[in-house]
Amino acid sequence: MAVKKLIVGNWKMNLDAVGARDLATRLSEMTDDSLREVAEVVVCPTFVHLPMVSQVLLASTIKLGAQNCAPRGLSALTGEVASQQLEEFGCAYVLLGHSERRALLGESSATVAEKVRHIQDHTRLTPVVCVGESLDVREQGGEKAFVKAQLMDSLPEGVDHTRLVVAYEPFWAIGTGKTASLDDIAAMHGFLADLLPEVTLLYGGSVKVDNAADILKTNHVDGVLVGGASLDADAFERIIRAA
Ligand code: PGA
Repeated sequence: MAVKKLIVGNWKMNLDAVGARDLATRLSEMTDDSLREVAEVVVCPTFVHLPMVSQVLLASTIKLGAQNCAPRGLSALTGEVASQQLEEFGCAYVLLGHSERRALLGESSATVAEKVRHIQDHTRLTPVVCVGESLDVREQGGEKAFVKAQLMDSLPEGVDHTRLVVAYEPFWAIGTGKTASLDDIAAMHGFLADLLPEVTLLYGGSVKVDNAADILKTNHVDGVLVGGASLDADAFERIIRAA
């Protein structure tokens, strides 16, 4: 439903400080005003690189996102980062419920919903809620029911659909080089668009230079969430220009 495509680079726990600075510098040099017309571009470095990357991107049109956030504001919660601390460094977006956090760190949909609630009630950040089925579920044909249930459990009651991004990322396609077929993407995105007509819908999972244009042209795909390919400035720029 968005007019401009939303292209989000998820740097995950990759890159040391020099690597993150170099990548941000390359991106800030490459992206020009013409890109502003076609896409909203966001990069999500690790928490510790946010202050430095925000400085490097100061004069660029690229926006900043975080990869996670605590479900409450400034308080005693060891090892977590508060939404206010993200906003101080210029974050506009925050990824929530990425499948790596769900599968490897046990993050539940109920926790994701708490985070969405906190972010929408107390900050100006836009939450990007990630959902997606496993290969088992897809092979049994249960992907729509699974994704619908996971999404509903990950959204708090009364969620503001106009300030919400949902990223459909089939778990088996993340970092594997496998992408869902364009038909499968269209079917899931059509289903999600019927469910949540006002929400911006991203596809993620092995988005690369050679498949980005087709994916971005698919009905109800408002943008992409890019992992591995966003670590390469040239590849990421070509994906942006495919929008
Ligand atoms: P990938 O990661 O592009 O490396 O598959 C996508 C993601 O996890 O968001």
